[in-house]
Amino acid sequence: MVTVIRAESKKAMGDDGKEQSAGMELMKPIQIGLHQLKHRVVLAPMTRCRARDTLATSLMNEYYSQRASEGGLLISEGVCVAADGHGFMNTAGIYTNEQIESWKPITTAVHNIGATFFLQLWHVGRASHTELQPGNAAPISSTSMPVPMPWRATLVDADGKSSKQMYSTPRPLRTDEIPQIIDYFRIGAKNALEAGKYLISSRAPPWGEAQ
Ligand SMILES: Cc1cc2nc3c(=O)[nH]c(=O)nc-3n(C[C@H](O)[C@H](O)[C@H](O)COP(=O)(O)O)c2cc1C
Repeated sequence: MVTVIRAESKKAMGDDGKEQSAGMELMKPIQIGLHQLKHRVVLAPMTRCRARDTLATSLMNEYYSQRASEGGLLISEGVCVAADGHGFMNTAGIYTNEQIESWKPITTAVHNIGATFFLQLWHVGRASHTELQPGNAAPISSTSMPVPMPWRATLVDADGKSSKQMYSTPRPLRTDEIPQIIDYFRIGAKNALEAGKYLISSRAPPWGEAQ
């Protein structure tokens, strides 16, 4: 899946005053903050659940290398900023030294191709299951209301069989716990830079605000 930055009308005027097709717009350079891109075809962030023990893998290296291009932009899958931030099996983290190291071969490969790599910082909040949480604790959130149906967590048992289950009832955070969450993102951003990536936004869940 690709994302086109600043989608424009199907027809645009070229420098010579003639109409250009949207396809040509796609291949025009664009500046995004500090980053000069050579074209506007961007890899959208996609969770692929290919990490192992929260570490980035060689399969992920292959995935990102295949999609990197000279002057292009890749946005990583959501990468968790804390042990209690995971809501899917086999998602990677960016909160330990080992995790930072596991990303380095991937960022090196992508940079060698000439692409910019953004890391998407992620904490799933209540969109998790006790089986995915340290000590099987309740997921943390701003609310005690679970994610409503039809959204469900995907769990995989020891035999590799997957099942869909309702998200667990979360534990609302106390006000004094919130600085810790902010810190998760601060450290995640710092670690992303150390792993060789630039950082991007945090990921918002698709079902909107907690109630
Ligand atoms: C398999 C899959 C995994 C995704 N994982 C993420 C993710 O980790 N972070 C995120 O922000 N969006 C994620 N998305 C959303 C996509 O980045 C994209 O925004 C969404 O699919 C809409 O794009 P489209 O209109 O081109 O389909 C995911 C989508 C798919 C299909």
